[in-house]
Amino acid sequence: MPQKLVFATNNRHKLEEVSAKLNGRIELLTLEDIGCRNDIEETGGTFSENASIKSHYVYERYGLDCFGDDSGLEVEALQGKPGVYSARYAGRHGDHAANNDKLLAELQGVENRRARFKTVISLMWKGREYFFEGTVEGTIRHQRAGKSGFGYDPLFQPEGYDITFAEMSLDEKNKLSHRARAVEKLVEFLATVSE
Ligand code: IMP
Repeated sequence: MPQKLVFATNNRHKLEEVSAKLNGRIELLTLEDIGCRNDIEETGGTFSENASIKSHYVYERYGLDCFGDDSGLEVEALQGKPGVYSARYAGRHGDHAANNDKLLAELQGVENRRARFKTVISLMWKGREYFFEGTVEGTIRHQRAGKSGFGYDPLFQPEGYDITFAEMSLDEKNKLSHRARAVEKLVEFLATVSE
């Protein structure tokens, strides 16, 4: 019987990405699967705090091993903004078009375009908390390019490439993305403790 582990999300895409890497070693459950219908509020000031809020929420109320994640974009010339506000940078949660417009406006005339995507995962495993982090460095373009992906993908060009995340196939992006890097570390850890 595979061990069970809750992923504090209702995003099926994220669940599939992690499940695929676990090779059936561990059975992943979503919030919906455990009957948790509440929106867990991301009130933290850092990615780690938000990831931790999610994993603790499930661990404390349901007594189940669990992990939560939080991601976003940090722009050097904007002192790390939008950071934890990435999803609601322009005001409305998930309005990616407006977020990209705001980012371009804030960086108008700014020469330093360096930025990074970051993901932090907090895992509550047998009563202890573990963190896994993934980053990808890059630059912010002056104009959007590409149609795939989501969020800031049309403006983000990863280091070593001359195309944006939105011009890559999902497979290509998933090989180098911040989320993939954090997930790989989580999966490596789970492989050692679930043998
Ligand atoms: P989440 O924590 O994964 O839901 O990400 C929060 C927000 O960060 C998203 O709504 C996007 O604005 C931004 N973001 C995170 N990951 C990515 C990515 O891979 N591409 C583009 N934007 C992202």
